[in-house]
Amino acid sequence: MLDINKIRAQFPILNRKVNGKDLVYFDNGATTQKPQSVIDAEATYYANENSNVHRGVHFLSGLATDKFEETRNTVQAFIGAKHNHEIIFTKGTTDSINLVANGFRTLLNKGDEIIISEMEHHSNIVPWQMCCEISGATLKVIPLLDNGSLDMHEFDNLLSKNTKLVSVSHISNALGTVNDIETIIAKAHNFNAKVMIDGAQAASHVALDMQKLDADFYCFSAHKLFGPTGVGVLYGKEEILNVLPPYQGGGEMIKEVSFAKTTYACLPHKFEAGTPNISGVIAFKQAIDFITDLEIAEITKYEEELLKYATAEVLKIEGLKIYGTAAHKSGIISFNIEGLHPYDIGVIVDKMGVAIRTGHHCTQPIMDRFNIPGTARISLSVYNTKQEIDVCVKAIKKAKLMLS
Ligand code: ALA
Repeated sequence: MLDINKIRAQFPILNRKVNGKDLVYFDNGATTQKPQSVIDAEATYYANENSNVHRGVHFLSGLATDKFEETRNTVQAFIGAKHNHEIIFTKGTTDSINLVANGFRTLLNKGDEIIISEMEHHSNIVPWQMCCEISGATLKVIPLLDNGSLDMHEFDNLLSKNTKLVSVSHISNALGTVNDIETIIAKAHNFNAKVMIDGAQAASHVALDMQKLDADFYCFSAHKLFGPTGVGVLYGKEEILNVLPPYQGGGEMIKEVSFAKTTYACLPHKFEAGTPNISGVIAFKQAIDFITDLEIAEITKYEEELLKYATAEVLKIEGLKIYGTAAHKSGIISFNIEGLHPYDIGVIVDKMGVAIRTGHHCTQPIMDRFNIPGTARISLSVYNTKQEIDVCVKAIKKAKLMLS
């Protein structure tokens, strides 16, 4: 059993007031709050350890490098990767997807196909469109069913010997659907296609085991996992990362440079050009330790309970419709209330201290699919409580009264 009060005490921001009311932070899909250990680790680095990594012979450079690499090992253990050099630090999920899509431009030809889905975040759509434009490959899209799950029958129809890559999200940021990625990966592998999983909404909510999952690439952002912004992870199988060309050229990613020919460094450095977000990576370790200490299975269980409660409570509001009703969902509730604009709901509940996100959530194709301009979205995290859900529901009811 998780001690939620003890967990909340680690997050200083949860004590603040917004518009004179206790903050209820339900925008965890956009970014999570940070525990004191993460905040302290950033400050300690700049106060005591600041130096560049992988470059100096001096004490501080060695210290910063050791701590930076310690996070890589922590991430490796956290996601069950086989090797620590299969963990590439990026700026975030978007950067990780762009890294892979940019590499695939040179590996694909006309006639090749990439499959994504209708539920993807723009960051898992646009890089593939750019990749197809340059390589001549074709983009195919798995459609959504009415309950917000993927049409797996259509996925079967789309797969062929031309499929070179499938890139889908683990959990939808706009609908909360948890995709059956094990099946997607196995089916794609039957056609020798590679699979990339966008785990931005999953990594702080469900346990990950790369070796069991057998994904070729998996990516996520530290900031959605209680860590700093500007840090992301790209996991890739060693043999594929070795074939993928580098994304950016510069310092750190080379073996030797001459005007005649440049050779590239080994993994992971081949993909880490330039000075990285050192303080962010070092502090990210604290975020993963925070999750590991709680045990991710306990987090999943608690958040399922919160989701169940929140779903039942919001559905008591007359005229409220939830988008995303798949059987297997994560702690995201996207909704609209008949006759009201989601933006107005968001503005009014904010006056009562409740932070939710409104709009298209960077998933315009989902909004088109359901023929709506956007939704209001509650996204939950482990530090949220049923009492906060009650406050939110009360605020939504008040908004409805004011706007009707
Ligand atoms: N992708 C983030 C969200 O869903 C920003 O809010």
